[in-house]
Amino acid sequence: MRTYGNDKKSAYKAITDAQKIAFAPIMFQAAKALRDFGILSLLEQKKGVLIEEIASNVKLSKYGTLVLLEAGLSLEMVRVENDKYFITKTGWAVNSNELTKVNMDFTNDINYKGAFHLQEAVQTGKPSGLHNEFGKWKTVYEALPELSKKNRESWFAFDHFYSDGSFRQIMSIVFKNNPKKILDIGGNTGKFAIKCAKYNNDVEITILDLPGQLKDAKKNIKKEKIENKIKCIPINLLDFQKKYPKYYDIIWMSQFLDCFSEIEIIKLLKNAKNAMNNNSELLIMETLWDKQKHQASIYSLHAVSLYFTCIANGNSRMYHSEDMIKLIEKAGLNVIEIIENIGISHTILRCKI
Ligand SMILES: C[S@@+](CC[C@H](N)C(=O)[O-])C[C@H]1O[C@@H](n2cnc3c(N)ncnc32)[C@H](O)[C@@H]1O
Repeated sequence: MRTYGNDKKSAYKAITDAQKIAFAPIMFQAAKALRDFGILSLLEQKKGVLIEEIASNVKLSKYGTLVLLEAGLSLEMVRVENDKYFITKTGWAVNSNELTKVNMDFTNDINYKGAFHLQEAVQTGKPSGLHNEFGKWKTVYEALPELSKKNRESWFAFDHFYSDGSFRQIMSIVFKNNPKKILDIGGNTGKFAIKCAKYNNDVEITILDLPGQLKDAKKNIKKEKIENKIKCIPINLLDFQKKYPKYYDIIWMSQFLDCFSEIEIIKLLKNAKNAMNNNSELLIMETLWDKQKHQASIYSLHAVSLYFTCIANGNSRMYHSEDMIKLIEKAGLNVIEIIENIGISHTILRCKI
């Protein structure tokens, strides 16, 4: 049973908000231009600047600078007083807040053009944005090694930003029962595995992921000189016939299950269960949208679901905790603990057979 949202705003406010939606893509580009052309940086450094000085400083015409600044007024990123422009707190966030930068670059470089194909993606259950704007891969995960440098950087910066913050915080949760062997499913570029290996001298970690991602993981592991502690097994986990290596103390899935449809999640979890014994634990770390403390987090996660629809695979999403727990139970596992408020937006579900 879920309850979220209300309809309490005035009709006037509703129509105002509707215009923000109507012009969102073009205003997004204006915000990004104000950032990328250095207009916001200039206004961060200098308080109260005339248009002529801004234009000459960023080497744009007075016209170009003016249309961007006027969009910035409506976006509440800048304000003007007696012809002099000042940055606002929102302008500062767009220019200097890492969370906002990572989200904006991900929106622009991975999603922006693909979002044009959202309706087709919803109708077909295929990632039409990926197919039309990047190439005919089945999922974005297979495409990652082939994307341009800029696109790859934006994807990984987005992916790592959220999990990196949480990895710092969760080592005591992961090592609570002194695990000796950890299986990191969807371990990506090895960040979690490396963190564990550095945190505890006795632990062995095995990463399962697609070959492209594991190439990067191996490089990172080699750089840290801990090849003896971390093993990488390339595998397509959607090939459900493939068994997972058995009897790990912990199976770890971070930001992994949201990459799959409900049916796929049940199959992945059944495979994980088959690799567990009565002592093993499955730890699932997810950004469950109903478990967020901040309105901005919920808004972001609902938007990220559309990335899954359009770009990632056409069939997954950021899950509501009730939906995820039902899938875990359908796979024959039990959630024995829910640990909330990890990092910016994570929840850990501790599961056993
Ligand atoms: C969103 S990333 C999360 C990475 C990491 N666990 C973290 O928390 O930052 C999902 C990972 O799942 C992997 N993945 C997705 N589909 C896969 C598949 N079919 N087989 C193997 N790995 C897959 C991706 O390559 C990626 O590394």
